[in-house]
Amino acid sequence: MKTTYFLSMHIGEAALPSWAPRLDLTTGPELDSERYLNIYRRVGAPWGWRSRLAWTTDEIAALLARDDREICVLHEAPRDIGFYEVNLGAEREGEVLYFGLIPTAVGRGYGRALMHDAIHRAYARGVRLLRIKTSTTDHPNALRLYLKVGFRLYYSVAAD
Ligand SMILES: CC(C)(COP(=O)(O)OP(=O)(O)OC[C@H]1O[C@@H](n2cnc3c(N)ncnc32)[C@H](O)[C@@H]1OP(=O)(O)O)[C@@H](O)C(=O)NCCC(=O)NCCS
Repeated sequence: MKTTYFLSMHIGEAALPSWAPRLDLTTGPELDSERYLNIYRRVGAPWGWRSRLAWTTDEIAALLARDDREICVLHEAPRDIGFYEVNLGAEREGEVLYFGLIPTAVGRGYGRALMHDAIHRAYARGVRLLRIKTSTTDHPNALRLYLKVGFRLYYSVAAD
């Protein structure tokens, strides 16, 4: 039985989390398809993430160039250790589509710092309602982290 949790957060000046310090992030034109696919693969492999692996490098390049995406890769020398992808939707709403760290970076506080960054960037791009979903097939820290940074659970569904 898999349970999926749907969470959201209203973002406002007063509710913004403290800034994530000293993160080495790459975003925008600095980020290329190969690097995106590499971190997607390394973060997602243990969790069965496959959808983006079927995309060509040209399709990924087009994704990275989209105005309605905020995609950031987290680096800790000598390698990339995590990333997130936020879809900046209409009506000041956004959704975190992907969020994760490579296995050796989990449990060191990077998840929280990276999420703070995602929230701040989404806010700066006009998002006032941010959504995310997670499930019992994701890392068990995920739901705990999202609640910790201020997301609220509004729906959950269980299915075989
Ligand atoms: C979801 C995910 C990003 C969360 O990251 P995380 O590192 O596990 O979570 P956190 O940043 O909250 O850190 C967890 C714990 O590390 C510990 N920690 C160790 N060193 C730390 C430090 N220097 N600073 C802060 N916390 C530290 C803390 O105990 C912290 O928990 P606490 O804040 O409740 O005390 C991560 O588990 C992950 O990528 N999982 C695989 C992919 C996945 O499932 N993604 C989610 C899809 S929805």
